[in-house]
Amino acid sequence: MLANLKYISGFGNEFASEDPRCPGALPEGQNNPQVCPYNLYAEQLSGSAFTCPRSTNKRSWLYRILPSVIHKPFESIEQGHLTHNWDEVEPDPNQLRWKPFEIPKASQKKMDFVSGLHTLCGAGDIRSNSGIAIHIFICNASMVNKCFYNSDGDFLIVPQLGKLLIYTEFGKMLVEPNEICVIQRGMRFSVDVFGETRGYILEVYGVHFELPDLGPIGANGLANPRDFLVPVAWYEDRQVPGGYTVINKYQGKLFAAKQDVSPFNVVAWHGNYTPYKYNLENFMVINSVAFDHADPSIFTVLTAKSVRPGVAIADFVIFPPRWGVAEHTFRPPYYHRNCMSEFMGLIKGHYEAKQEGFQSGGGSLHSAMTPHGPDGDCFGKASKAKLEPERIADGTMAFMFETSLSLAVTKWGLKTCNCLDGNYYKCWETLRSHFTPKFRNPTGHK
Ligand SMILES: [Fe+2]
Repeated sequence: MLANLKYISGFGNEFASEDPRCPGALPEGQNNPQVCPYNLYAEQLSGSAFTCPRSTNKRSWLYRILPSVIHKPFESIEQGHLTHNWDEVEPDPNQLRWKPFEIPKASQKKMDFVSGLHTLCGAGDIRSNSGIAIHIFICNASMVNKCFYNSDGDFLIVPQLGKLLIYTEFGKMLVEPNEICVIQRGMRFSVDVFGETRGYILEVYGVHFELPDLGPIGANGLANPRDFLVPVAWYEDRQVPGGYTVINKYQGKLFAAKQDVSPFNVVAWHGNYTPYKYNLENFMVINSVAFDHADPSIFTVLTAKSVRPGVAIADFVIFPPRWGVAEHTFRPPYYHRNCMSEFMGLIKGHYEAKQEGFQSGGGSLHSAMTPHGPDGDCFGKASKAKLEPERIADGTMAFMFETSLSLAVTKWGLKTCNCLDGNYYKCWETLRSHFTPKFRNPTGHK
């Protein structure tokens, strides 16, 4: 049944979708008729200021059995390890690496997508719509009669272990590891899982993800717009006598409200503000075919722009399987100090610059201006390797959340999670000087 889910394709299009059980549910020629087809309620979901230029204006019209407002008052609830307090612990400029984040056994502790949100790091201020957070989700149970929406920002969700069946007001999406999805601000959703489940979330406040500009690459390449998939309208007219719980993240805190019906009661919708998913296998990889290592920005899937030209609040970057053909070149990523901060995760396989230690389901953080680069083993091998065309990263998918913000790591990230690898720095200890002041090695030059 899950494989039969339908989608419509495109990035940020003006989409329109009706549940086939109610043909003609979308009003014709207007958004807000006196009486809607099938006696539905019309509700607009605004993802941008009304007055944004057309290129950035985001909204959708939802035609639903009852409007979203039919809920009891919100009350504060326990929020576990979800936080936006960036001053919990002292800053730590060290290279940080985490072992795979542990998922509790369902027999010991049931955890769903919302109770399984753990904030790892972040920066900025929710109230001024400026900043990001990186969360790890670990769960083993589906959300039952419970949905979630985020008033603070957009979630870019990267599943690493286990499928997510996501019910949204726009329809259903199945998101598997090696796919990503984006649930934008305000959209209600509920997540079913099928066992132990883990992944990463990049939350951006106040901006939406866009496809990066392609510049001289041209009209095609990287993530192509037609490969983004949007769910089709699907509704349930379901009464929930015991009460349905709507959880809201508002100003970084969790609140819950009860209502008597499922919120997935949207019979038809149209607009350009929707959830969407993307299969990373569809990324059209561009890289060096002559010499030198291109900067990793060539692998940008989605970007959340700041107001400064060319500077992202956050980029989502992947390191996909590809050919390595560069000549006269140290092919792994170069040694680097970056004004941006780089969080990396691994969906599967082994990352090319560190074959050991960096494990799928774990992560690493190289903060602003903190040095990083290949480990001693990788440097030794890549400096001597015969430079023939070779496949790189087959069976692997590493990714990076790169941000212009300087990230604070939470107490959970540094201590409570108990996954921090205290020996990370040692992977560079085997690097030795190879300096030969009296011998200019000609093979090192073109
Ligand atoms: Fe870097």
